[in-house]
Amino acid sequence: MDTSTIVILDFGSQYTQLIARRIREFNVFSVVLPCTASLEKVRALNPKGVILSGGPCSVYDAEAPAADPAVLAMGVPVLGICYGLQFVVHHLGGKVQPAAAREYGHVEVAVVAETPLFRGLPQTLDVWMSHGDHAEQLPEGFSLTAKTSNAVAGIADEKRRIWAVQFHPEVAHTKQGMALLKNFCLDICGAKQDWTPEHFIQATVERVKAQVGDGHAICGLSGGVDSSVAAVLVAKAIGDRLTCIFVNNGVLRKDEFAKVQKTMREQLGLNVVAVDAGERFLSKLAGVTDPEKKRKVIGNEFIAVFDDEAKKIFEAEKHVGEEIAWLVQGTLYPDVIESSSVHGPSHTIKSHHNVGGLPENMKLKLIEPLRDLFKDEVRRIGRDLGMPDDIIERQPFPGPGLAVRILGEVTADRVALLQEADEIVVAEIKAAGLYRKVWQSFAVLLPVKSVGVMGDQRTYAYTCAIRAVESEDGMTADWAPLPYEVLRTISSRFVSEIRCINRVVYDITSKPPGTIEWE
Ligand code: XMP
Repeated sequence: MDTSTIVILDFGSQYTQLIARRIREFNVFSVVLPCTASLEKVRALNPKGVILSGGPCSVYDAEAPAADPAVLAMGVPVLGICYGLQFVVHHLGGKVQPAAAREYGHVEVAVVAETPLFRGLPQTLDVWMSHGDHAEQLPEGFSLTAKTSNAVAGIADEKRRIWAVQFHPEVAHTKQGMALLKNFCLDICGAKQDWTPEHFIQATVERVKAQVGDGHAICGLSGGVDSSVAAVLVAKAIGDRLTCIFVNNGVLRKDEFAKVQKTMREQLGLNVVAVDAGERFLSKLAGVTDPEKKRKVIGNEFIAVFDDEAKKIFEAEKHVGEEIAWLVQGTLYPDVIESSSVHGPSHTIKSHHNVGGLPENMKLKLIEPLRDLFKDEVRRIGRDLGMPDDIIERQPFPGPGLAVRILGEVTADRVALLQEADEIVVAEIKAAGLYRKVWQSFAVLLPVKSVGVMGDQRTYAYTCAIRAVESEDGMTADWAPLPYEVLRTISSRFVSEIRCINRVVYDITSKPPGTIEWE
């Protein structure tokens, strides 16, 4: 199936992914490649147009990222954004210079020429700028299309079909940004709006069928959105030849082990092997207090359990596809971009163990049906597959589960305590209609005891923290200003319903400097 594609070459801007997301919002497929991608690689995608992203450097920096200037003459329309504009000017014979006044934030731009890029837009644009350099002299063939009071804001060479803007149309602060991107992708490039959930599902099912043939696949289920959508998609392609493995690692939410099995089997018709390894995990966690060590213990144990189960499944299925064994993973597009970005993979702050980690000794081939999708697109696909809201709208839950929310040693008693608290937080946040508004909301059990009084009795018991954050992607976050009433209800329910908790605090730390989880 041929999908209209826009290629975005990444020069390292923090907004590059946003360009891709905006374009996909109007159902055009877009792909981010590092700016150093070869011309053949760009050509292979048969793009309808190319966008050059912004970037933090100056074109004169020694380490300034560069694309092959041949992309400018590929024969498809090009749109340069911010650094992309400067790259075009610099490489086609114009001049870029450090500006006397750096422009940052809201700026007014005057449109000074008629061009299809600005069609239907007002003569004055309210845009978001962030640049130090500016175009001093335009390359031959280019004309000015927009300007601010001190600098060039837009240029075009319609003969060569190259447009560029100094501002960022992809950020929400640029009011007409979406209209501009639509003008470029739809009118100028002629891209079709065919990146729809139905199209994606159909294309993925066809691809997985062809890939797996009569082989057999396994998938680690976590109960979260990504692994569930990946499993349902693959099951749609190969039916019963997909076996999902769901492991109770002893640090799941209350009743989660039973609930997830029921939903996956009864509502989604998945073939699930459930492994109750809770005690095995908890015994390995005994005495462990270091957060990274907890992650490692859980990660290693998970792989061991998963490995055992997978071997049993493939053994039983030997008659089907002999050695043809596949592993389904719910990898998302941000991870794919991240690992091929101009900067390379970002520094690991916490070692994230994802459910379904590949047991290396088992020569499994990977199926990653979601590797082209952003999280919000995964939810759209899930909805289209008829999956229940309860799964689709779930807040993220870490692979090491409640273990990274129990500070100090993880014991069965503490897990049970936190399960109660977690259930109260989720119920009250849902009741207040906030569950989908906050990124995550949960309880954290602290190994701190303090004195209290209940009835006429002195108490000496644990402290529980409430954490609720707002975020776009989990990379940065701000604490959520939960209504006092909600905090009051959660607090009084904690203390009255949970034995051993006599004090409740609210975490008002943003990320950075804090992280979302406490460990
Ligand atoms: P932090 O705590 O690093 O969390 O701000 C960012 C997001 O990642 C989740 N998280 C994890 N997910 N394994 C996971 O699969 C982990 O070890 C892990 N640690 C944090 C966290 O819930 C948040 O959504």
